[in-house]
Amino acid sequence: MSFDRSIKIAPSILSADFADFGREIQAIEAQGADWVHVDVMDGHFVPNLTFGPQAVKAFRPHVKTVMDVHLMIAPVDPYIDAYAEAGADVLTAHVEAGPHIHRTLQAIRAAGMKAGVAVNPGTPAEAVAHVLDLADLVCVMTVNPGFGGQKFIDMTAKVRSLRDMIGDRPVHIEIDGGMDPTTAPLMVAAGADVLVAGSAVFRGGSVDTAEVYGANINSIRTAATGT
Ligand code: DX5
Ligand code: ZN
Repeated sequence: MSFDRSIKIAPSILSADFADFGREIQAIEAQGADWVHVDVMDGHFVPNLTFGPQAVKAFRPHVKTVMDVHLMIAPVDPYIDAYAEAGADVLTAHVEAGPHIHRTLQAIRAAGMKAGVAVNPGTPAEAVAHVLDLADLVCVMTVNPGFGGQKFIDMTAKVRSLRDMIGDRPVHIEIDGGMDPTTAPLMVAAGADVLVAGSAVFRGGSVDTAEVYGANINSIRTAATGT
């Protein structure tokens, strides 16, 4: 995985057909997804439950791009090796998930993955100021995590601050929640390069009408890049 700041669209399979993940992943990649975003929820850190490491491992052979695994779980550290074994390329932990984010990011890198740190809407940018050299990605939540299809919470000022704090470091800024052709350009203008989108990608389509996914991805990309 080489680093660049080109705009990347990362569909969240939280909005896919839960009985057909293999074909859903193949469909979004064929339709232009740059990364595949996998939302792991534990019913404790967030009020919803999704995938464990065995499910993520089963997704792996279908993902030809980048498997971007977003952990909304606490604690994180006991599960890092299991998600490495499952084949995550990027593993993101929440700064709010425990007292030792510095140690967690070190452990994620030591396990051979890119390390991400996520911040909830109520958490300031400064919460990650001292771990930017240990991170490959900062995920700015623009909804309170737990569910797809929620209303966008504008975090423009936070993204701008992070972009300044990151400077020349090879650290992605990812936006997660409520991304669509209206909201994505605001976040890109503020400094984001990875746009997670669940409902706005899967809306109206299916594996049999995957061109709808392609049109949805293109609408977000066109709006975000202004081309
Ligand atoms: C929210 C998840 C998101 C979510 C985004 O807890 O982390 O990745 O799936 O869904 P949309 O794009 O529908 O807001
Ligand atoms: Zn997510």
